[in-house]
Amino acid sequence: MAIPYEQKDTILHVENLTVAYGDKVILQDVNLMEKDTVREGKSQGQVIAVLGRSGRGKSTLFRALTGLEKPTSGKVLIPDYSKPAGNGRQPAKLVQEGDVGFVNQQYTLFRHKTVYQSLWFALRKSNMSKEEKEAEIMHYLKEWGLEKNKDQYPNFLSGGQRQRTAILEQLLSSGYYMVLDEPFSGLDIGNIMSVKKAFELISQRHDLNTIIFSTHDIELAVELADSIYVLGYPKDEGGNTVHAGTIIKHFDLKQLGLAWHEGLTASHLECVQMIKAIMLQA
Ligand SMILES: Nc1ncnc2c1ncn2[C@@H]1O[C@H](COP(=O)(O)OP(=O)(O)OP(=O)(O)O)[C@@H](O)[C@H]1O
Ligand SMILES: [Mg+2]
Repeated sequence: MAIPYEQKDTILHVENLTVAYGDKVILQDVNLMEKDTVREGKSQGQVIAVLGRSGRGKSTLFRALTGLEKPTSGKVLIPDYSKPAGNGRQPAKLVQEGDVGFVNQQYTLFRHKTVYQSLWFALRKSNMSKEEKEAEIMHYLKEWGLEKNKDQYPNFLSGGQRQRTAILEQLLSSGYYMVLDEPFSGLDIGNIMSVKKAFELISQRHDLNTIIFSTHDIELAVELADSIYVLGYPKDEGGNTVHAGTIIKHFDLKQLGLAWHEGLTASHLECVQMIKAIMLQA
């Protein structure tokens, strides 16, 4: 049964985005729009998955979404919360480096900083007092099951602990957005569970919190996301493959009644099969 929800302000708008490296076009005419989803009596953030076969441009799209890569044409717009809302709407701005938290595919931590020191560093721009920062960090370490790892350096952490520390770092230092490039790759089942839990904590913490992640695990995407974009190579009018990635399909899992479920039902598995078939063609 579909869960009722409403769609409010636009929180991410990608408009005719094209990205090229030199004269090689990697992404062409990517368009997408995501809105703030509101559920009654519940803080409901957005979880968006980007799927696509290797080389279709997921990481390139993420670099553009975080302002690290300048588009050749088109734009990425996010709400500008530093400005007052005009008639109920937040003005939009072009995304800039630093606006969006980014955990990249080779998520890197400071080798010479412990978990606690890394998180402390992440809060450097915050106006909180020393005591407030300490309390905030301890709160998260406890909630995210990292209390025992507080004084450890990255080399002594498991993949999942390192991943959660990297995510926490971004959560503490950036606004509502977080882009995670393949956050589940290389993790064992236990660590996957704990990163899934981290997603849940983030999306329930604030209505506007938005996680955008990529993965090669289609089941996991269908289980976690409320919106899925498939990047692939489209066909031109003559039926020939164009070797530049674009969004070839969007699944709005809210609309399909598949969002915010525990585990996978038969309808979820049907969706997984559909996505696999689409990806194989593109
Ligand atoms: N800095 C760069 N200069 C030139 N080409 C690049 C650069 N970075 C990536 N590419 C090319 O852009 C294309 C898309 O790469 P990208 O890393 O975005 O794909 P992806 O979908 O994230 O793949 P994967 O699933 O393997 O991570 C590839 O053909 C890659 O070789
Ligand atoms: Mg990639």
